[in-house]
Amino acid sequence: MTFREDWLVQWERLIMTKKAIAVLTSGGDSPGMNAAARAVVRTAIFEGVRVFGIYNGYKGMLKDDIVELTTRSVSDIIQRGGTFLGTARSAEFETPEGRQKAYANLQKHGIEGLVIIGGDGSLRGGAKLSKETGISIVGLPGTIDNDVWGTDYTIGCDTAANTIVDSINKLRDTASAHRRIMVVEVMGHKSGWLAMMAGIAGGAEYVLVPEVKFNLNRLCEEIEEDYSHGKRYSLIVVAEGAGSALEIGKYIEEKTGIDTRVSVLGHVQRGGSPTVEDRMKASLLGEKAALAIISGESNVVFGYNQGRPVSINLFDAVDNTKTLNPELVRLARVLA
Ligand code: F6P
Repeated sequence: MTFREDWLVQWERLIMTKKAIAVLTSGGDSPGMNAAARAVVRTAIFEGVRVFGIYNGYKGMLKDDIVELTTRSVSDIIQRGGTFLGTARSAEFETPEGRQKAYANLQKHGIEGLVIIGGDGSLRGGAKLSKETGISIVGLPGTIDNDVWGTDYTIGCDTAANTIVDSINKLRDTASAHRRIMVVEVMGHKSGWLAMMAGIAGGAEYVLVPEVKFNLNRLCEEIEEDYSHGKRYSLIVVAEGAGSALEIGKYIEEKTGIDTRVSVLGHVQRGGSPTVEDRMKASLLGEKAALAIISGESNVVFGYNQGRPVSINLFDAVDNTKTLNPELVRLARVLA
């Protein structure tokens, strides 16, 4: 893992090498993306560097949906979820020809560096663009999934985890009233990080994640045992990558004979006003990204490691898969 914290504290020697940069958001939106983009824009302008917004992610880069921004462009957005720049997935950008076409649009505006706020897929697109064109790229991990290698944190995961916990708290009331088993499906793409964070914080009895094999028959036996000792309800969080909560809920009800209901939280997890944690961390990462790209850094992603901001090699971040912390897996079991 290549972390370089030393240079983060040497800004007094900051040398401006870029005159114009751009920022875009890509992939699934996440609460806090606006805070990050706002920090990029205001930091660049503070340092006397022009900054452009690329609207609707790589699709906008291909369509030349690129507009110079001012400090006022990012007023009144820090409290809003989503992304004022918009985001979109683009098949054309997946092709080398598409990336060359997009790069030509950047050149048209004199853009010399690009801050990409997105998940691992978006950062992977940026890494390809950098390799093929040489443009400076700095990435910020913007996704609720918390599944970007090299960082403990991604922008939006705290707000999403809080949204899930709020839903779990509400589901507890009705589960207890009816002595039901509640199965809750949460997002996370192929990662169990978000499910694990919310499952532990929400006090779930079980957290089913793609990274850890689970035995439904044993789970049913344990629940039946608990109910026979008077337990009123059971709450199971299922990461979407671990399976379908609807199928799992149906199986559990048939196996145990206990009334079971399923809630698939879906895209409500992506919205909402970002928490202080997401606003603060996104703002700090946005400033770091802007200063880095302005001073000539490239092919780095900024994230957090043990609570401190770090820079990660972009290619390492996209070429590696973030594993689930086994300590959390154990904790979820112990606390159930
Ligand atoms: O990557 C973020 C994410 O919310 C995943 O957790 C989820 O699987 C995916 O995006 C959903 O994608 P879409 O919004 O395109 O349906």
